[in-house]
This record gives sequence, C-alpha cells and structure tokens, in this order.
Amino acid sequence: MLGKSSTIRMRGPRNNGAVHKRRVFFTVCATVLMLSLLSIYYSSFFSSRIHQKHEIHRGGGSSAENSDWDGSSKAVTIRPIKPVSDDVAANEDEKPDLNIESINLKEEHIIPDKEENEERPDIDETDAITEESKEEDGIEEVTTKTFPVCESKFSELIPCLDQTLQKRLKMKLNHSIMEHFERHCPPSEQRLKCLIPPPPNYQVPIRWPGSRDEVWQANIPHSFLAVNKSDQHWMELRGDKAIFPGGGTHFHDGADKYIANLGKMLKEEDGDLSRKGKIRTVLDVGCGVASFGAFLLPLDIIAMSLAPNDVHQNQIQFALERGIPSMLGVLGTKRLPYPSKSFDLAHCSRCRIDWHKREGILLLEVDRLLRPGGYFAWSSPAAYRENEADRQEWAEMTTLVKNMCWTEAAKEGQTVIWQKPLTSECYQEREPGTHPPLCSSVEDPDAAWELPMKTCITPLTKYNEDSLEPWPQRLNAPSPRLQDLGIMEKSYETDTYVWQQRVEYYWNQLKENGQISADSVRNIMDMNAHLGGFGAALKDKEVWTMNVISPSLKTLKIVYDRGLIGSYHDWCESFSTYPRTYDLLHAWNLFSDVDDRGCSIEDLLLEMDRIIRPLGIVIVRDNASMVNRVTKYLKGLRWDHWSKDDFEIIEDSLAHGDEKILMVRKRQWHAVETF
Ligand SMILES: *[C@@H]1O[C@H](CO)[C@@H](O)[C@H](O)[C@H]1NC(C)=O
Ligand SMILES: *[C@@H]1O[C@H](CO)[C@@H](O)[C@H](O)[C@H]1NC(C)=O
Ligand SMILES: *[C@@H]1O[C@H](CO)[C@@H](O)[C@H](O)[C@H]1NC(C)=O
Repeated sequence: MLGKSSTIRMRGPRNNGAVHKRRVFFTVCATVLMLSLLSIYYSSFFSSRIHQKHEIHRGGGSSAENSDWDGSSKAVTIRPIKPVSDDVAANEDEKPDLNIESINLKEEHIIPDKEENEERPDIDETDAITEESKEEDGIEEVTTKTFPVCESKFSELIPCLDQTLQKRLKMKLNHSIMEHFERHCPPSEQRLKCLIPPPPNYQVPIRWPGSRDEVWQANIPHSFLAVNKSDQHWMELRGDKAIFPGGGTHFHDGADKYIANLGKMLKEEDGDLSRKGKIRTVLDVGCGVASFGAFLLPLDIIAMSLAPNDVHQNQIQFALERGIPSMLGVLGTKRLPYPSKSFDLAHCSRCRIDWHKREGILLLEVDRLLRPGGYFAWSSPAAYRENEADRQEWAEMTTLVKNMCWTEAAKEGQTVIWQKPLTSECYQEREPGTHPPLCSSVEDPDAAWELPMKTCITPLTKYNEDSLEPWPQRLNAPSPRLQDLGIMEKSYETDTYVWQQRVEYYWNQLKENGQISADSVRNIMDMNAHLGGFGAALKDKEVWTMNVISPSLKTLKIVYDRGLIGSYHDWCESFSTYPRTYDLLHAWNLFSDVDDRGCSIEDLLLEMDRIIRPLGIVIVRDNASMVNRVTKYLKGLRWDHWSKDDFEIIEDSLAHGDEKILMVRKRQWHAVETF
C-alpha cells in the first residue's frame, strides 16, 4: 500500500525537477489505486451501508426511528456518486484511503490553478481543491472549498501537544520538568489543512450514563491501560468494549468508596464530600481515566480532571469518551489555564508529582488555584511508609506546607488533607525571609495563559471567598468578583436570563427538528463563554459544559464562582483535547472575534471539525456576514446545514442588529476501512 513512508513531506518547498517525474509517477499510481478502490468500494458499499444503519440504531436511542435523525444515515454514505460536473470533488471523495502521498498528489494537481488562486487572497492554494459554484439564489458567485482527509496516522492528533512536532522542529525541551507535555503549537504554515479521520470502525459513542462504565474499543484502540494497570482496575477489555470498573492506583476497590472516605475524614458522617454544597469545584491532577471525577458527579461536585498525553496512553481521550469533564494538561513550567481561587478542592492520588521539589513551585500553583479555605487531598506512600526516601519526602512536604500556611485538616493511612488559610494573618506572622515568599501584588493572579509559574505565594485579596453561596444557589448568585471586572449585578442578571431564553430556544429547535434525543448530547463546549450563562442554563440537563474564555477577557473566574468549570483558550490555536471529544460546540461571536484579531476562520473551522464528534452539533451565532462566510465552508467540511430556514432571532438585550444563527451537524464518514 502506498503511504507508509514517513520520508515524504506533506508540504513545503517543492523541487521543480523532481516534481514532474513524481507527478507522472503518482498519476499512474493513483489511477491504478483508484480503479482498485472503486472495485473494493462497490463490493463493500452495501455491507458498509448496513453496518452504518445498525450503528445509528444502537447509538441514537429512541430517536433512531425518527426519520429526521435517520437523515444522518444518508450522510454516512458520502463517498459515492457525485454530480458528474463536479469532478474535482468526485476525485476528492476517493481520497480518504490514499495516504500522505495522496495529499501531495493533490497539491500537484492543483498547481495549474495556482495563478488563478493567487488572485483570490482568501484562498490558501497549498491544500485545498477549489471550485467555483453558484449560490442557490444564483446571484452571488462564491467559492466553495473542499478539504482533503488527513492521513490515518493523524486520527488522534492534538496539534499543540504533538511530540513528533517537537522532534521535527528540534525543540529543546527539558523533560525533567515536563516541558515536553506542555503546549507547543505548530507555526501556522505547518498547521494541517485537512479533516481528521476517525479510526476504522468508529461508532457512535455509547451514551451517558452507560458510557461512564463502558466505551467502544474501536473508538480508542489502545489497550496499554488495560494491560499495564490491570491489577488496579482502571480499565478492562471485554469483547468490543473497554470497561471501567472505577478503580485507580490508590483505589482499586472503586472511587466511590474512596470519595466517601475523604468525606468522612472531613467530618461528614454520611461521607458527603460536597459538605452540603460547599465543595463544588475540584481539580484532579494526574487523573488517569477520571474515575475520581466520574464518581464525584452524583454528589453534585464537578471536577476538572487533568492529565498529560504521557505513557498512560489516551487517559483523557477515554475520560471524554466516557462523558467525564476533563482536558489535557500538566504541571510543568507554566501556569495552568485557570484563574486564581477557582477550586474548592484539589486532589492528587499517587500522581507521581514531586510537589516538594523545585522549591515547591508546583504546590504553589495549586495554592494559587485554591479558594481561601480550600483543601488539597494528597494520597501518597510518603504519608505512611517508613523507608528513608518516603520519610524524607514527607518531612520536606510538611515543612513546605507549613511555610505556605496550610494546616492539616485530616490524615488517615496514605491520605492527608491540608487546608489553605482563609485570611492573610498567617502570612504576616511568618519570620522575615521565610520561603516561599509572597508574590508581588502587582502581578495578576488570574492571568494564566502562557505565563511561567513562580516560586511565590499568591497573596489573598480583599474578598472573603468563603462568602460564596453553597451549590446550587451559587450558580446564579452574583459573584463578589464581578466588581473586579466592573460588571454590574444587574447586567449579570440580564445575561443569565437572556442565556436561559436562548438555550431553551436552541434546545427546542434541536428537539423539534429531530436533531437530538434525550441522551445524544453529553460533552458540550461553549467556545466563547463570557459569564458562563449558556452553560448555567443547561444545569438540569444530563450534560456538562467546558466554558472556554479568551485570556484577554478575564471572566473565567466568574464561571468558577458559579460552580462551573472552564479554561482560558486562544482560538487562534488548537485546544488541548483529543479529536472527536465534544457532542456540541457553541460559538457565539467567536468567528468575528477571531477574524478581527487577524486569525484564520478556516483554521478555526478545521479545529472545530477535529474536536466535534461525528454527528455532533455546531451552533454558530454571529453577525450575518460572518455566518454567511461560514456557510460557504459547510460542504467542504462535510457538515450538514439541517435547516434551510433562518432561525428566528428573538430580540434580547445581548442581540445586535444583524445577528444570525446557524445550526449544523457533522456527518459521520469513514476513511475506507476495507484494507
Ligand atoms: C531542567 O530543569 C531542571 C530543574 O529546573 C534543571 O536543574 C536542569 O538543569 C534543566 N536541564 C536542562 C538541560 O536545562
Ligand atoms: C507499565 O508500563 C511501564 C512504563 O512503560 C513499565 O515500566 C511497567 O513495567 C509496566 N508494568 C506492567 C505491569 O506492565
Ligand atoms: C461583524 O462582522 C465583522 C466582520 O465580518 C466584524 O468585524 C464585526 O466586529 C462584527 N460585529 C459584531 C457586532 O460582532
């Protein structure tokens, strides 16, 4: 088969002499390949069709019988017959099975178009096949792009956490401080401009709540954890599924019992770790497959579960496939992308993080992220083992936390729970010159995008965060930190109300049009979450929302104060998640924002296509000209605009004159798997 040679570059300077020979060679190869594909294709077409149909019935729940929902099954068969006139696109459709060469081949095919393309600055001539077409109304001539499918080795690509990129660019990264697990994005000319294919036999994921305990193996074909952690019950393989018994290194018998024990340690007799709503937001570092986070959910506690893309292959991919809130991240050299005072509890069990080293820099980052009075639960052999090394570590740890003014709230077996102080008193009483020092008060404790961590204690500010209401009142109560941002309580309340109305409208539209059934949406991302109103309005649904906020906006702390979770992110880059991890993306004024900042909306669309699951929903709400621009990419992205009618824009106080809503659904397609 063509295409396993890694020496062939995907893009880059062309050698003109060689190009001609290669072009001839590839054209011949491609013709032969195409003919064989066609024959394979026609023999597999009907069986694949039956297979898909079956899948949708399994995944789609009750609405699988609904004819609109079933519309998606037609989407599955996209490769076949194309309008005869559309021969560039027809060629495109044969492509998924050709690997990297096929993309090269493509590039060369489009060389003749180059001049033409250069006259159209909005077209990137390197990758895409372009085609002229008339808009349906026949008035405006527009350009529609199609995108090639990436080689199958990219099916799990996380562009900013790609260690092959680090090698290719010869980055000097210090592995002992985990720099290689931190974000390093490809320069824009090296971003892939292709659609990430699912693995062979990818199926509609098992729906929540079943997914907590089992997922399809074909969707994440990695068995390392099942084999390597078999004695710890992280995960088992059974038939075509991966099963999650709820275990972890420290809790072989299940996270639920362990969590109840943490609750009891904090003097909650019934083992309710939430302490009647006072503990709501949790940071779990080194989370494995996020079973700890999964079993916090019944207590109305939401965890941001964090792990790097390390030897414990695909932990976060499994966590998200299970429908558990999580993202990729590591405590290395940079601040985690969350504002200060975001979490009520931080947790690390056997996470193999050297908290006591590097002058406590990593623990100081956790301290920044904890609310005053917040807890850090640490399970480690160092807390009980008697050997030299563990005793040494324990001694260093207790000295460090004492200097940070943390107090021991409870200790039992190998678990200790420390508490961050509520006030600044203890800091002021420390001996002069005590390490670690307090950070300078001019530093913004909430800035956390691409900023280095420092070995100092983030000082407490004037607000007494203990005044936050318990969950669920906290969700809509105005945060004391609104004042920091100059946001009036009144506008906050209006925002909350408006998003409730809008979300209700979205949801009704999706349901009435048969686009979702009760359980078909679980992982949601609000890509420009502002004050978190969209996510807050989804409280009573069996979903969770990743609230993403531009680092320049500073409103993420309000999201956390509401008892929701999220992350800073700059959408000029790719997000720290695996492909196919979200069921619904909401992009409110995001495209015009990214465009205003001079970044590419095409890259943004490809990124959205990467992270949305097949059959996932995208809701774009932006000004009309931007929505129209986005619409021109739908066909190339293989997204279906499922309603031709314009959605009604109900005038509300966040609306502006020419706003438009676009709701689309990503098709399910397969790169040919018959090889
Ligand atoms: C890596 O970081 C550690 C800790 O800061 C430091 O001691 C070491 O010298 C660094 N190594 C390199 C190669 O820079
Ligand atoms: C698990 O993987 C680690 C790292 O690759 C290896 O050192 C260890 O021996 C493995 N353990 C088992 C039980 O397979
Ligand atoms: C509307 O779109 C244009 C560009 O398409 C953008 O510059 C502008 O900021 C947008 N306006 C609003 C209110 O979003």
